[in-house]
Amino acid sequence: MEFITFTSIDVSRIVGQAIINSYKKSIRKKLQVNLENPDVEIHALVRENEFLLGINTTGKSLHKRGYRVYEHPAALKPTIAAAMLKISGWTPHRSLIDPMCGGATIPIEAAFIAHNIAPNRYRTDFAFLKHKMFKVEEFEEFRKRTLEKERINGFEIYGMEKFQKHLEGGIKNAEKAGVRRAINFKIGDATIKTDYPPALEFIVTNPPYGVRMIPDEKTLHLYEKILETLKNIAPGSTLVLITAATKRFQKAVEKTKTQIKEAKRVIHGQLKTTIFKCKI
Ligand SMILES: C[S@@+](CC[C@H](N)C(=O)[O-])C[C@H]1O[C@@H](n2cnc3c(N)ncnc32)[C@H](O)[C@@H]1O
Repeated sequence: MEFITFTSIDVSRIVGQAIINSYKKSIRKKLQVNLENPDVEIHALVRENEFLLGINTTGKSLHKRGYRVYEHPAALKPTIAAAMLKISGWTPHRSLIDPMCGGATIPIEAAFIAHNIAPNRYRTDFAFLKHKMFKVEEFEEFRKRTLEKERINGFEIYGMEKFQKHLEGGIKNAEKAGVRRAINFKIGDATIKTDYPPALEFIVTNPPYGVRMIPDEKTLHLYEKILETLKNIAPGSTLVLITAATKRFQKAVEKTKTQIKEAKRVIHGQLKTTIFKCKI
């Protein structure tokens, strides 16, 4: 058995020294190092016999879109919302609802896709802008071309929510994101047939998991009721749903004889969740 004789502290010391030495050799100046607020962030990874070195060109995480003026207590990461829309197979000319939309992350990301809006279009702090190898003028030209491609058309994107406070928060987020007019918001209960708009083709949603917002035993009942309601109003539609209550959702699926087409595991914050794609 082989023992590891170094730690990550040794790796960072050696890599850090190598960077300082190489900078001095090529620029003939001592590198000023600021670990709290670096201009360039270098990542080193040692994995068995592999050594990987990379530069962070993004800066802060891409899920920080900048439109979240209302912070829902169980908000979904916008990057996961966008991935769920992709998994669903939805295209902008098909009708879509998030019937438990909370702070409206899913409808906002859908509106971005439908209107060709780059989600981080006004972001000015990408890390690559500080790197000498990137040309800021080229990036500005690219940003201008991207903004010119935006279009605002009428699509059927709905956001429904049971609680007024969250619905109002979702509307504020959509306003900040510049897509308020692209989303039809309404108060409604996901378990009540008559609350839904007609002719729905795609349902993409992030219901309560029973961890933070409702007691565990009620989650199974809620999931069953939602599936039954959807079977009633939108047979043949596609449902994409994310939950940490995987077993309870699977039970509800069995009880309602719903077909799971795909299941993907994903870590959301501290929680192990699954994204399910179902045929209703
Ligand atoms: C996990 S949160 C959604 C968070 C949202 N994806 C976001 O990013 O802000 C679930 C939402 O479902 C709502 N909800 C719970 N039961 C509902 C029901 N029967 N009908 C409609 N909305 C419901 C809750 O009020 C909550 O806002």
